[in-house]
Amino acid sequence: MNTLWQGRFQKALDKQVNDFNSSISVDCRMYREDITGSIAHATMLAEQGIISAGDCKEIVAGLKGILADLDSGALQIDPAAEDIHMFVEAELTSRIGDTGKRLHTARSRNDQVALDVRMYLMREIDEITALLNELIKAINEISKDNIYTIMPGYTHLQRAQPISFAHHLLSYAMMLLRDVDRLADCRRRTNVLPLGSCALAGTTYNTDRQRVAGLLGFDSVCKNSIDGVSDRDFAAELAFDISTVMMHLSRFSEEIILWCSWEFKFIELDDSYSTGSSIMPQKKNPDIAELVRGKTGRVYGDLTTLLTMLKGLPLAYNKDMQEDKEAVFDAIDTVKMCLSIFTPMLKTMRVLPGNMKKAAQNGFINATDCADYLVKKGMPFRSAYKITGQLVALCIQKGETLDSLDLDSYRSLSELFDGDIYDEIDMHKCVEKRLSEGGTGFESVKAQIEYLDGILK
Ligand code: ARG
Repeated sequence: MNTLWQGRFQKALDKQVNDFNSSISVDCRMYREDITGSIAHATMLAEQGIISAGDCKEIVAGLKGILADLDSGALQIDPAAEDIHMFVEAELTSRIGDTGKRLHTARSRNDQVALDVRMYLMREIDEITALLNELIKAINEISKDNIYTIMPGYTHLQRAQPISFAHHLLSYAMMLLRDVDRLADCRRRTNVLPLGSCALAGTTYNTDRQRVAGLLGFDSVCKNSIDGVSDRDFAAELAFDISTVMMHLSRFSEEIILWCSWEFKFIELDDSYSTGSSIMPQKKNPDIAELVRGKTGRVYGDLTTLLTMLKGLPLAYNKDMQEDKEAVFDAIDTVKMCLSIFTPMLKTMRVLPGNMKKAAQNGFINATDCADYLVKKGMPFRSAYKITGQLVALCIQKGETLDSLDLDSYRSLSELFDGDIYDEIDMHKCVEKRLSEGGTGFESVKAQIEYLDGILK
């Protein structure tokens, strides 16, 4: 029998119980954080005279050796270990002997795991942020080529008003910018050192937590040791932030799926980002976008797992909290995979402006502009709205559009109509004129692109 708590126990752990209790298959990915944190801890212990300088040197050298061997593959992680913290400590002691047993002075696995998770998540937040920035940049570049590409804008999935395709795409860039901002906020709250909280109550040793924070690059130290070991808000917050990214990707995916259907045909996905059917030879399916949409559900599941796991927990540490990592890691892995495939899918898609324009022409999406024409000539908007509605009904009855309807028909409903109405409801003009701040007017779209260029620089 050789467990760390062998003093208190007379029997070894049942094999099945050991497997049930173990988290090493999930937390082994934090080995770098665990070792880095331990090196900082040992350094502080020596500086404070809690362990000797000689012991610290041995411990640090031993830990660095383990890190190098894990990185190179020379050392394999033992799947029978309870968790990464136990594994590293046991490996250290097997390498340097009894000195290794001094490392866990003034520390508990409760503050150790909280430290490792925070460090690990901050690194992942940085990687997700980089992937988001790449996607925003790709959207901005595609937008630059499509400022003057006109498509129908929709509400209720009914053609509503003509818009610039770039304007539509840029709305996703704005969502993703908020995601980046949310992640930065989450990172700020994650960037608090829990180490030194020990099991839950702090310690009798003269530790220097500020020093450990400095060594590990933390902005601050948690103010309450019970909160330090019990807080997983940052993991739930990250799962929410990732859920929101996925929700944005999912909405974008849904539109891409619609756009490449024969009913829309606004875009075509590259062959390398589409799949065929096993039976229908004509099929070209947007599986990637569908999978992104589908995987959004599992990330929401991860968020629900975290919130539910935490909701009834008494203070301080409870083993339930070991379940945090599988959920938040799954959310991280999923969003990273989705982002890294979504961006090239978007970059390689072919935009079909002719089809967009055709769709924009059939559906009276310039009706608002027709009403606005009358308003500019002095008619109250409600009256103009009614007359335009009657014009649309007339068009439908005659099989015409507002662009093809003859001037006499216009004038039969209002004397205010003149020949310049056709220019006023021209699709390009309709878009161009929407210059209100944030509108779809070409100059407004260019301003958005410039704004993004400035941020992405
Ligand atoms: N594997 C544990 C976790 O992930 C580490 C902390 C264990 N602490 C304890 N007192 N059993 O939460």
